[in-house]
Amino acid sequence: MEIVDSIEGLAAFKGCGFVPTMGALHEGHFELIRRCARDGLQPLVSIFVNPTQFAPHEDFQRYPRTLEADSRGCQSAGAAAVFVPTVEMVYPRGLAQAQEEAKLLQLPPVASRPQLEDACRPTHFSGVCQVVARLFDLCRPQRAYFGEKDFQQLRVITQMVETSRALAPEARPVDGSFTPQIVPCPTVRDADGLALSSRNRYLRAEERERALGLSRALRRAHEILRPQMNEPVAPAPALAAIIAHAEAAMLEELERHQLHVEYAVVRDADSLEPVQQQNAAQSPAPLRALIAARLGTVRLIDNA
Ligand code: PAF
Repeated sequence: MEIVDSIEGLAAFKGCGFVPTMGALHEGHFELIRRCARDGLQPLVSIFVNPTQFAPHEDFQRYPRTLEADSRGCQSAGAAAVFVPTVEMVYPRGLAQAQEEAKLLQLPPVASRPQLEDACRPTHFSGVCQVVARLFDLCRPQRAYFGEKDFQQLRVITQMVETSRALAPEARPVDGSFTPQIVPCPTVRDADGLALSSRNRYLRAEERERALGLSRALRRAHEILRPQMNEPVAPAPALAAIIAHAEAAMLEELERHQLHVEYAVVRDADSLEPVQQQNAAQSPAPLRALIAARLGTVRLIDNA
């Protein structure tokens, strides 16, 4: 496995399968690499803790940096190369300028009306779109792999790429000739249900037990919503009542685990908007339950 630390070194990986990460890798990331290899593409992993997606009060400074262990893990999972760019490579006009430019980015619809992550972390998706677009242009992948764990991020990036394809070349955030196909991959969980996350390593033992509240809350929502999935489409008021019931159950479960809830909602899985109505002529729209909760200073998200 190669370690690429220059832009020139990326030329050999044009058309690769790309797994962008911020390091502190876990089985969830390794599964993305394995999936990419199964798809017959050369897996290229980037490791870059992107400063522009962190607000000043967030954990950029203490974000775990574990390059040696990450490289070993990537190699075992079958990565062809790990790209470890510097800030100067990603933001050649300088970080201060990049931070200003991020504020001007027009976000895709799924993040343009603050509601979920974007309401709690208002500058986050500008930084994510900025860095992902830049990494796509540098690495020129055929496909890029993202975990469903960050579900809104996945939707934002998917829409960014779709929009980019439709725009005139000079208006594209991503170079239109190389907009990769975005491949969503299922969340990887520990045996007890906790979704794997780089930030789980911040949790102390008793906090880890409380963190299970997220997956348990999602399970309760699933139990309430599942019968709905197999029925003919419910009329809008009935569906609204079932969703309200599922949201109340999630809240109860999260509070039982003494978690500070930021949101616990059931949304249309495509737009992430509240579910307005169901057209009886169509099959039921896919739903997504999404949670963000704090446990001390650690912020956890999950969805199903
Ligand atoms: O999900 C992440 O790790 C980051 O947001 C990403 C997509 C690598 C961009 O920095």
